[in-house]
Amino acid sequence: FPVENIRNFSIIAHVDHGKSTLADRLLEITNTISKNVRNLQVLDRLQVERERGITVKAQTASLFYNYNDEVYLLNLVDTPGHVDFNYEVSRSLSACQGVILLVDANQGVQAQTVANFYLAFESNLTILPVMNKIDLKVAKPDVVLKQLKNIFDIKPEDVLKVSAKNGTGVEELLRAVVEKIPPPPADLAKPFRGLMFDSWYDQYKGAVANVAICDGVVRKGDKIQSCNTKKTYEVQELGIMHPTEVPTGVLFAGQVGYIIANMKNVNEAQVGDTLCHDGTSVEPLPGFKPARAMVFAGVYPSDHTEFSALRNALNRLTLNDSSVSVHVDHSPALGQGWRLGFLGLLHMDVFNQRLEQEYDASVIVTAPNVPYKARVFGAKNLKKYGGEEVTILNPCHLPDPHVVKEYLEPMVIGTILFPDQYLSSVMNLCMERRGEQVDQVYIDDTRLMFKVILPLSEIVVDFFDDLKSITSGFASFDYEDHGYQVADLVKVNILLNSRDVEELTLICHRARARVTSKQVCSKLKETIPRQLFKISIQAAVGSKFIAREDIPALKKDVLAKCYGGDISRKMKLLKRQAEGKKRMRKIGNIDVPKDAFIKVLKR
Ligand code: GTP
Repeated sequence: FPVENIRNFSIIAHVDHGKSTLADRLLEITNTISKNVRNLQVLDRLQVERERGITVKAQTASLFYNYNDEVYLLNLVDTPGHVDFNYEVSRSLSACQGVILLVDANQGVQAQTVANFYLAFESNLTILPVMNKIDLKVAKPDVVLKQLKNIFDIKPEDVLKVSAKNGTGVEELLRAVVEKIPPPPADLAKPFRGLMFDSWYDQYKGAVANVAICDGVVRKGDKIQSCNTKKTYEVQELGIMHPTEVPTGVLFAGQVGYIIANMKNVNEAQVGDTLCHDGTSVEPLPGFKPARAMVFAGVYPSDHTEFSALRNALNRLTLNDSSVSVHVDHSPALGQGWRLGFLGLLHMDVFNQRLEQEYDASVIVTAPNVPYKARVFGAKNLKKYGGEEVTILNPCHLPDPHVVKEYLEPMVIGTILFPDQYLSSVMNLCMERRGEQVDQVYIDDTRLMFKVILPLSEIVVDFFDDLKSITSGFASFDYEDHGYQVADLVKVNILLNSRDVEELTLICHRARARVTSKQVCSKLKETIPRQLFKISIQAAVGSKFIAREDIPALKKDVLAKCYGGDISRKMKLLKRQAEGKKRMRKIGNIDVPKDAFIKVLKR
């Protein structure tokens, strides 16, 4: 394929603005999928994506498009829209020269529109602004055009108007992709060089890598090498996604395709790695910033016998999602497990759901925490912690106050877009969450854009839910990393019948300790069922108790109700009780429901 006839592009948008629907239309118009097949949202392949209606994993598809009697190869890289998955967006963009910036004609510019625009802009990509859903009766094209002008300086006449739902304007959009987005800067004559921008695990084929070929040619049977690990592989299969794997035997500079080369595990198929021919020395392509985990949680098998099955599932899933960081961990009550780092709470939920759905693994997840830091002093402590600055992934490892100069907490800078009638509620919410407002501008006559610096710990759990509810669903939110700030932190221990339960330990701001502890104790009281003995739930900072709840003992046994002797009824009750037990975990002699560990932090 002549490089001049290749276009690599991506669709970026706020959640629900219609990326997947538009991608389906593009696939249909180019006959990549048939119109008759009702397999809507072809690129959203994962079960979780279909269920939740969100794109989690970026997917790529190659389309053939006839333009002025010439065939063009359009490589569409689908990207997720949720704030947790920005990392996937920036990765996808590294394989592109242009983007379609999709904005809903009714909802207008939202927080992720802003974030995604800047990701594309800073990567010097050609941006095609597109207004979607113009078929809607409630569309407000003039307001949206004004927002695009105000925020991004996009001229109204440059904005294409489409309806991804019924296809209006989509053909024009494809023409614009060919006309406006430049072909990839590729050199066929140079030695082969490819950027691995994604990888996933296929049950039958093993690791599959998505590669953007920057220079040269790669063929089936070639010996290739990873610039990062220096390991060599033989290319067993390669080709394009059309829309699923179609072997082509060869990939040329400028193309985007997949390569299968016997890469066995996560560490071998590292996203961001450069591939080249074995024995050649090429300059590695600029990789991308490694994803920074924002939220950590312990993950344990529900049943110890499932440990190795869970380990295999984790290995495979992390191959699909390299943004999850994995550390081996151990807990007294839950045994051998892992502490996983996620980009955000949705990311964590989705990951756990995938573990259960795709790998049939039953897991216990502990309450999430953010990566706090402590600066320790004293030669002995520097040695013990391997340096002055200690990052705490597991709250029970927080160094004691008497060896700590200061504690630090991770901060974010948030962007909130909302109608100005909710101004005071939004300001109150931000203040309540220890936020500091740094900017405020109108993007049209009634909508405000807020910039606010917030502690990450204050937003991970339910900030967005609260924001949505106080603005009747009209606010959108996105955030970026904003370094660390000194904070007055304390460790709160939770005790069940005077026994410290490490898995429930949490770190919080001193000013918050009492309120949070009360919440956690009463949440536990709600989730732990009554048992044959009394249970006390206590929260303590150091040796001082700051909250307490009691669960009274249960006297009746389950069979008491069925005096007489209907044996089948008795069996049923016992069976139900046994099933209930399966969802429990013993801590000391107390049965604690599996989901208690994660529920405790929800307000
Ligand atoms: P994520 O993958 O979660 O980021 O969402 P998305 O941007 O891919 O949105 P999706 O394509 O799933 O569309 C969201 C909703 O908008 C769906 O209910 C679509 O049917 C609807 N929708 C998409 N395009 C149009 C359009 O042109 N007109 C109308 N009326 N509805 C549309």
